[in-house]
Parts: sequence; structure tokens; C-alpha cells
Amino acid sequence: MSKMNRTSLAVLALLIGAGARAELPDRDGNVHMGVASCATSQCHGSAIPRDGSNVLQNEYITWTQDDPHSRAYEVLNNEQSRAMAARLGIGAATKARICLDCHADNVPASQRGERFHLSDGVGCESCHGGAEKWLASHYNVLSTSDEAKRAAGLYPTHQVAARGELCLSCHLGTRDKFATHEIMAAGHPRLAFELDTFSELWRTAGRQPHYKVDADYRDRKGDVSHIFTWASGIVAESRQRLKLVASSRFSNDSLFPELGLYDCHACHRSMKSVQWRALPRHGGVGPGQPFLHDGTLVMSMALARVISPADAEAIETGLIELHRSGSKSVSAIQETARLLDTTLARLQRALTSAGLENREMALLRELLATGAQGNYLDYISAEQAFMAVQMLVITIGDPVLEGKLDRIADTLNNDERYRPAQFEAMLASLAEPESEPEQADD
Ligand code: HEC
Ligand code: HEC
Ligand code: HEC
Ligand code: HEC
Repeated sequence: MSKMNRTSLAVLALLIGAGARAELPDRDGNVHMGVASCATSQCHGSAIPRDGSNVLQNEYITWTQDDPHSRAYEVLNNEQSRAMAARLGIGAATKARICLDCHADNVPASQRGERFHLSDGVGCESCHGGAEKWLASHYNVLSTSDEAKRAAGLYPTHQVAARGELCLSCHLGTRDKFATHEIMAAGHPRLAFELDTFSELWRTAGRQPHYKVDADYRDRKGDVSHIFTWASGIVAESRQRLKLVASSRFSNDSLFPELGLYDCHACHRSMKSVQWRALPRHGGVGPGQPFLHDGTLVMSMALARVISPADAEAIETGLIELHRSGSKSVSAIQETARLLDTTLARLQRALTSAGLENREMALLRELLATGAQGNYLDYISAEQAFMAVQMLVITIGDPVLEGKLDRIADTLNNDERYRPAQFEAMLASLAEPESEPEQADD
């Protein structure tokens, strides 16, 4: 196999999945064989990582012990879920499609193999695809090409764009499965996501992901940097949100459009003190108006300022139009969302060829500048900015900067008591001269 130390553009395009799209596992049409089919000790059920094997082979144990996805079905039985289900009047949450679609591998009955159990939660095949056609052959890494695996229904989780679409299908939702405001109001936690952070989150609690990106992995699958994974996820989420806004999921056929696509804190905050501030991207719209959740769009704007300034300007004006249209009509909002999505589509294409190699410092500076322009006055943008900054600082590897992360995180620990001035002051401290690393990169 050839070394892929310096990933060529063609290979990069393949890795990030710029080509044809793969069908998501929950609609791949193949039989899902069940976690037990993957979990024998010779396969992925080893108690300890195996030497002399490409993959760790203890994926099943890691998944059961360290991966909350293995408990995704179980939580539908807990008190919080029971209370939610009662409020929604949907019977048992463990039997309700609106819960199972995201909390289990809820494929149609005809696609459930003998060892399939809904109670496995978000199992191997929820992400890797129904194994009907690849179970017997996929371990043969050398003889099975990427295309052959994909044709057999093995979902390309190693391609960033495909991975982003997969994770977002549950962590944001699609037209078909969505954590609506009704579900939220019944007690569901607010969803927040960022592809790179959530791919790495395991580590923070001393847990491990079930795959190891080492030299052998890079050799087989190539390497995509954290900054690229972040960028790809941010643009994907921005586009998915705009598409949802443009869809019937948003217009909803009722008095209010789908409030689950709005910034929750635009409505849910104290009436005792006025927290409203004029945000530049709100284009002069006054107090009392709810705004769409645009945290990832703000990040896309910052990203565009680094790789594609013309698109950055288009996103900036597009955001203003989007928010101004918010007081006009649902169809006006949908129209501006569609228009803005064409810019995001362009940015997504630019991302493929831009390459973000060694642009961490440049992006960090841009994120700080974006904050200084008053873009993190809302919690949701600040939360996204923090995940981006944390990813960058860890990649840059400057201990002085890393030492400041906890204190920035502290200013975000209560979304309903968010004080933007504190967050901004802490964030700005990253730019203080004594912490400026010596090797500027661009
Ligand atoms: C669009 C997908 C989606 C739908 C629909 C959905 N959930 Fe969730 N749910 C999630 C995700 C993703 C999380 C994890 C959020 C996080 O931690 O970032 C979650 C978290 C939860 C939690 C908290 C789990 C914990 O470990 O604390 C509960 C409880 C829950 N969901 C119950 C339900 C119930 C009950 C329903 C149906 C009424 C439902 N969910 C519908 C995606 C969904
Ligand atoms: C929430 C989604 C998700 C679930 C659930 C999941 N995986 Fe993965 N898996 C991934 C991602 C993402 C990767 C990394 C990208 C890649 O290598 O394809 C991965 C990688 C792997 C790899 C490749 C490691 C390598 O070095 O090439 C194996 C093997 C694997 N998973 C097995 C399993 C098994 C077995 C289960 C169930 C016990 C499972 N996965 C459950 C998402 C998931
Ligand atoms: C089929 C739906 C589904 C897919 C696909 C999915 N997730 Fe999840 N994820 C969930 C649910 C549901 C939970 C909550 C489980 C719980 O708390 O018990 C969750 C929880 C998580 C958590 C823990 C969050 C926390 O607050 O601790 C992380 C991290 C995560 N997912 C990352 C990912 C990544 C990365 C991908 C894509 C590779 C992905 N997920 C794909 C449904 C999904
Ligand atoms: C346009 C305003 C608006 C937006 C935006 C909004 N909500 Fe609501 N929310 C309401 C209204 C109105 C109610 C019903 C009144 C009530 O129960 O407080 C409600 C109720 C709730 C409740 C139940 C409160 C209770 O005590 O019964 C929760 C929880 C909730 N919303 C969460 C969210 C989340 C999470 C989001 C973001 C995804 C969000 N809301 C976005 C207006 C909004």
C-alpha cells in the first residue's frame, strides 16, 4: 500500500467525500444483523486491543463501556424519558418511533436480522451500515476496495463529509426525524453539536474512542486534520439547518414555525433584566424578535474569512437578510435561507480545494476578531466559538493557551445565565502578547 503522508488533492477529495453520496445507514435497504454479529471474540469482541491487527478488535467492549451510544435505548426507559413520553402522550418511549429513530437502529422489521435487537441502541450498524452484504468480507482489507465496501453498504465513516451527515442526522435531525420544540418542551435536552469536538469528546472523561488513528490507520485511510474535520462539520451543519428552515419541517402548517430551529435563548431567558443587545448580524432588527439558531453560520462566516473572503461577505449580508426576513413571513425566511445555502454550497466546494493545513493560528485570530465584532453576545454562537477555539488551541499545542481553556469554559457553564462580557474578556485573553506563540504561520 502506498504511503499517504502528503495527501494529494485527489485523495483528499475522496477522503472528505466530495464525490457521490452514500445512503445513510437507516435507509440503506440492507438487513442489519445486530451488534451480536460483530461481537465475537475473534472479530470485534476481544477483551483487549489486539496486536498484529489493523483494527483494535475490542470495539464491542469499548462501545459498551465508553460509548454513550450503547445506552441510547436504555435512556428511553429512565425517569426523564418516561416523564417526556407522558407529557407527549405517546405511550412508552421505548416503543415510540419519534424516540427510536435517534435512540436505536430503527430500521423496518424486514431489515432486522436474527440477532438484531432494538435494545442495542445506536449500535455498530447505525453508523457502519447494515452488514448483510459485507459481514463476511469486510475484514479482508487488502482484497476489498473502498468502492466495493461501499457498494456492499459499508457506510464511509472515514470520509468527513459522510461522517458529518451521519452524526448530524441524529445530533441535529433531518426532515424525517427531528427533536422538535414540542419534544424539547416535554423535557428533552437541548442539542448542540460540533463534528470534531464530538468525535473527540470521549477523551475528556478518560474514555477512548473505539478506533485508533495511528500510522497504520493513516496508511489505510489517510489523514484528515482536526481543523478540516471542524470546518467540514460546521459547513455541513449550517447547510442542514438552512435546508430544514427551507423545508416543510419549518413552515409546519401551524401558527408558529418550528421553534426547534430557533435560538432557544431568544425566548427562554429572564424577564427581570433586559439582556437584549443589538447584534451586527441582526441588521437593525429591534428587541422582542426571536432569531433562528445561527451559531454554525457565524462559524462558517469566520471560516470563509480565512479561505474565501468573497463568500464571507456574502454570508455576512445573507445573515442580515435572514434575520430581517424573520419578522416578515415564513416564506420570506425560507426564501432567504435557500439563497444563503447557495453561498454555503460554494464555501463547501472551496473547502475541498482550499486545504486548511497550518491555518490554525489564522483561524484562531479570525475567531477572536469575529467575537470582537459582537458576534458572541448570544450563547449559541459563544458555545460554537468555544468548541472551535478549544480544537484549535489543542492542535496548536501551546501550554499557555491550553491553560486558559478551563476558565473560558467556566463562563459558559450555565446557558441561562450567560454573561457575554465575561466570555469575551476570557476569550480575548488568548490574544494577550505573553501568550502569543513564536511561530506565526502565515
Ligand atoms: C433527532 C434525534 C432525536 C430524537 C427525535 C430524540 N432524541 Fe433524545 N437525544 C438525541 C441526542 C443526539 C441526544 C444526546 C444529546 C447530547 O448529549 O448532546 C439525546 C439525549 C436524550 C436524553 C438524555 C440522555 C442522557 O444520557 O442524559 C434523553 C432522556 C432523551 N434523549 C430522550 C428522548 C425521548 C424520550 C425521545 C422521544 C420523545 C427522544 N429523546 C427523541 C437525539 C434525539
Ligand atoms: C456513532 C457511530 C458509530 C458506532 C455506533 C460505531 N462506530 Fe465504528 N467507527 C465510527 C467512526 C466515525 C469511525 C472512524 C472512521 C473510520 O475509520 O471509518 C469508526 C471506525 C471503526 C473501525 C475501524 C477502525 C480502523 O482502524 O480502521 C471499526 C473496526 C469499527 N469502527 C467497528 C465498530 C464496531 C464493531 C461497532 C459496534 C460495537 C462500532 N464500530 C460502532 C463510528 C461508529
Ligand atoms: C442513530 C442516531 C445517532 C447517530 C447516527 C450518532 N449519534 Fe451520537 N448520540 C445519539 C444519542 C441518542 C445520544 C445520547 C445517548 C445517551 O446519552 O444515552 C448520543 C450521544 C453522543 C455523544 C455523547 C454526548 C454527551 O453529551 O456526552 C457523543 C460525543 C456523540 N453522540 C457523538 C456522535 C458522533 C461523532 C457521531 C457520528 C460519527 C454520532 N454521535 C452519531 C444518537 C446518534
Ligand atoms: C419563539 C420563542 C421560543 C423559542 C425560540 C423556543 N421556545 Fe421553548 N417555549 C416557548 C413557549 C411559548 C413555550 C410554552 C410556554 C411555556 O411552557 O413556558 C415554550 C416551552 C418550552 C419548554 C417547557 C417549559 C415549561 O416550563 O413548561 C422548554 C423546556 C423549552 N421550551 C425549550 C426550548 C428549547 C430547547 C428551544 C430551542 C431549541 C426553545 N425552547 C425555543 C417559546 C420558545
